[in-house]
Parts: sequence; structure tokens; C-alpha cells
Amino acid sequence: MKLKTLVAGLTGVALAMSMAACSQDRNATGGTSTSGAATTATSTDGGLVGIAMPTKSLERWNNDGAHLVEVLEGMGYTTSLQYADNKVDQQISQIQNMINSDPKVLVIASIDGTALSPVLQTAADKGIKVIAYDRLINDTPNVDYYATFDNYQVGKLQGTYIEEQLDLKNAAGPFNLEPFAGSPDDNNAKFFFSGAWDILSPYVTSGKLVVPSGKAPATNDDWASIGIQAWKSETAQSEMQNRLNSFYTGGKKVNAVLSPNDSLALGIEQALEGAGYTVGTDWPIITGQDADLANVKNMLDGKQSMTVWKDTRSLGDQVAKMVDQIIKGSKVDTNDTETYDNGNKVVPSYLLDPQVVTKDTVESALVGSGFYTADQLGL
Ligand code: BGC
Repeated sequence: MKLKTLVAGLTGVALAMSMAACSQDRNATGGTSTSGAATTATSTDGGLVGIAMPTKSLERWNNDGAHLVEVLEGMGYTTSLQYADNKVDQQISQIQNMINSDPKVLVIASIDGTALSPVLQTAADKGIKVIAYDRLINDTPNVDYYATFDNYQVGKLQGTYIEEQLDLKNAAGPFNLEPFAGSPDDNNAKFFFSGAWDILSPYVTSGKLVVPSGKAPATNDDWASIGIQAWKSETAQSEMQNRLNSFYTGGKKVNAVLSPNDSLALGIEQALEGAGYTVGTDWPIITGQDADLANVKNMLDGKQSMTVWKDTRSLGDQVAKMVDQIIKGSKVDTNDTETYDNGNKVVPSYLLDPQVVTKDTVESALVGSGFYTADQLGL
């Protein structure tokens, strides 16, 4: 395990002040600053914080991890950041190794939210506090806080986007919709689906939306039947190819695809391209989430209609603040104590607001905030 070491012997820093400064920069200016960078040299060692992330293969988790390390180290903490290649056993042993190094707090973005109870018991036995990062950890009393973007709202924004773009309230229809859902082992996926399906399913019931593949879950609880394991683009691509080949014969066209995130959207977009759909003629509405670079480029090219942007920097700032509050014994920021029941208890949570980005707002939202440079997007 690689521990990042801090410059030793520097004293007298107001950590809380530096943290406040980080967040304020971003919030006040819509921020281009790299949070925490200005504070790295003026730290004492506040202790170890272990960070467990699911995989490097999806862009967002790389950004999440790098930003958390930057901010926490800026606040004077030592960090251990581990990625588990989407393998549950690997994540469990990484967490166990971190526990052996006596961290003060563990920040965990779980792969399987139901698989961590035993290892978290070991953490609790040593008095180590746990923050569930982005994804809730289930079936254990040993998760102290949860910080995430409002997952139900993410789905609602996707469903509402399709509703508005097809003008479902007024248009006669029927329109062809193909819905997808996220990884069955990810606790967030059911919230994304429910948020979207609460908007869209009344139109399926009324017949204004038709799902030619038949892959329309009867209820929100059946979402996993259309879940794409591990959020893999390739799996979404072959699923979409199958649906197009089998159910879209004789000139039938898909009008909208509910994709819960960008990695799935990417595969779906490749399948559409392969099936001969073209932008400007018959390309359907496609939703997404995360504002991954490839997807933002596809939005600019007209191949993806929207993404739900969750600024990973704001989540990292919030979690770092909570880590600091836990370690200092201050009151920990939460703004929701009702929604996230993990099967054992309701976990006090901090929910941030996700935001819709479309082709028209890429520049103002993503470039303006410094999330991407104009160069990266070819603007
Ligand atoms: C996250 C999404 C992400 C997905 C796949 C979810 O838990 O909330 O932002 O797209 O995992 O990594």
C-alpha cells in the first residue's frame, strides 16, 4: 500500500479555514481553482484517511479519487487511495489492509453495497468511522454517514428530459422507448431508475410510450431485470444491438433511450451508429449521467442529448469537510436524515444537487466551471 507522505515539520495551520477557502472558491466563482492546491505545503499530519474506489475503468472515479486526495492532503491529512477493478473481493481486502494501518476515517465508494458488513465490523471494532461515498453501503450499522448527489433526482431529470423533448403531455404519440438500468449490485441504480420511471411509466401505461423490446419493468422494483452488470459499455452496446436487430425491423425506429449513465450511453450510441442511425435524421433522444469526456464530445456532435452532471469536485469538497468534522469531533454536516435506509438504519446523509447539461450548456456549465478546458472539448 502506498501512503502519500506530507511535508513534515510545518505547523500552525488553520485547516478548517483552508477547507472553507477551497469550497468557497468553487461556489463563489463557479470556480476554476483546483481546490486545496494552495494549502498543501502548510500542513501538520492530521492522520490517515483511507479511500476505497470501485474502478479506474470509469472516468468519474479517477476524478473523484484524485480530487479527494488533493483536498484531504491540502487539509493536512495523509491519504491511501485504492481502486478495486470492480472486484468485490479485491475491494474488501483493500479495505482490510487500510484498517490494519489504523486510519481515522474510511471513505468508501462500494462496488457491491451489500458485501461489506464483515469488514466494516472490523473497522468499527477499532473505532474507525466510515463515510459511504456516492453509493450507500447496506445491511450494516457500521456506516456513519453518506454523501452523494440526490440519486432519485438524477433519474427524475432524465425522465423529465425525455418527457419534455417528446412533448409527451401534448403530443399524440406513440413513441418508441428503450429503457436501460444500471448495475444490479449498485444501490444507486434503483434510485436512478425509480426517478425516471415515475415520470415515464404513466405514458407506457397509457400507450403514448411503447417499448417494442418488451423490456419495460412492470414496477420500479423490477428494475434489475434490465440492469447492466458493472455498468459496462460493451454490455449495453450488445443489449442495444439485440433489441434493434430483433424488434426494430421493417423500418421501425427507436425515438428515445433512457440510459442511466454515460458509460451505458456510449455503448448504446455505438449500437445505433452500427445500425445506421444518423444524427439530424433519425437519431433518438438519449440520456446520460456524469459528463464523461467522450459523452460530452458526443453531445457536441449531436449523438447524446443530455447528461446529468454531478460535479465530483463538490462531492469531494463536502466529503473532505465531513472527514475533518469527524476527526475534530465537531458536528458533521448532513441535510437528509430520512431517505437512505440501508436495511439496518437510516444513514445521515448529505445530498448535493445534480444538474442537466445539454449541447447548449456545455460551454457555460462545464468549461465555465473549469470541469473541462475548451481545448479538451475541441471548442
Ligand atoms: C454513480 C454514477 C456512475 C455509476 C457507474 C453510480 O454509482 O453514481 O455516477 O455513472 O455508478 O460508475
